Amino acid sequence: MGVKKIIAGVISCLLAVETVGCGSTGGQITSIRIGVSVYDQYDTFVSELIEHFNEYASEVSGTADYNVSVNIDVYNAAGSQTTQNSQVKAMLQDGCDIVCINLVDRTEPVTIIDMAEKKNVPVIFFNRELVEQDLERWDKLYYVGAKAFESGIMQGEIAADIFQTETSADKNGDGIFQYMVLEGEADHQDAIVRTEYAVNTIIEHGVQVEKLGYAIANWNRAQAQTKMAQILTQYGEQIELILANNDDMALGAVDALKAAEIDREQWPIILGIDGTDVGLAALKSGEIQGTVYNNKEGQAEKMFDLAFCLATGKSLEGLELENGKYIREPYTKMEGSNIAKTE
Ligand code: GAL
Repeated sequence: MGVKKIIAGVISCLLAVETVGCGSTGGQITSIRIGVSVYDQYDTFVSELIEHFNEYASEVSGTADYNVSVNIDVYNAAGSQTTQNSQVKAMLQDGCDIVCINLVDRTEPVTIIDMAEKKNVPVIFFNRELVEQDLERWDKLYYVGAKAFESGIMQGEIAADIFQTETSADKNGDGIFQYMVLEGEADHQDAIVRTEYAVNTIIEHGVQVEKLGYAIANWNRAQAQTKMAQILTQYGEQIELILANNDDMALGAVDALKAAEIDREQWPIILGIDGTDVGLAALKSGEIQGTVYNNKEGQAEKMFDLAFCLATGKSLEGLELENGKYIREPYTKMEGSNIAKTE
């Protein structure tokens, strides 16, 4: 058996153990091997996505349409592109038939692409989108994710809707929504695009806004709490809206408000994106007022189906790839009446 680097906390799905990839009997493929590398195993959304990927693989493997055994190795790149490149090298040496990569640095996919192309092993990039020119470098490169702008628009719509329907949202009664933004990684497509579209959408809906500040918290709850605590000392009760690029950072803001012992009635409106388990729990309990569901199940299942078809040589026709390369799952707004759907 090849060396297995199994990340802690996220299950590695071992449905069958094979010494090499793409096992076959008499020309018939009997097993496939999928290598996965995530940029950071502690990222809440990504770890939930991978958990679902493994669950789905266990569920479908062996059924009529997926009649081969599947072996999945999951690696944690722990924030290092160099580590991730070595992991891909190991996956290729271990005989993976397909690799699924959550790039650490979305501008640095070339080493991985070159290694995979030499071995003729297709690559599915996911969640951290590389530029189109890089995806065009070889015809066996794919991307699975979502349309970042859509989540920004939806978050902006939720914010505008709340401001226009709940008078208490305008705490100082000046008719202007005073907001601040908690941003993800500086160069991540979802951070840049979500912020821009959320703010523009609020304005397009006829709500006047005033930006009080922003902080980069790298998708991380603890970092968001620290940044939010600093911002609270500066702006305190002036803040009427917190636009967080993801749920974990929205929850970091909640943590900071609690730690500062600010009365719940004085809290600003807090909006996240992702609909992670903890995010949805906070929405239900009213700690945050809205989020936008980032369809991890859809992304995980379609990524598995694509990996499966590529590894077994099945047609990709039913997968409805955009431009033959992209799968993008739609987002869903989660607020008010929608909360019930999460029960
Ligand atoms: C985003 C997600 C964030 C974080 C990031 C990592 O799509 O909303 O929570 O997981 O991906 O790349």
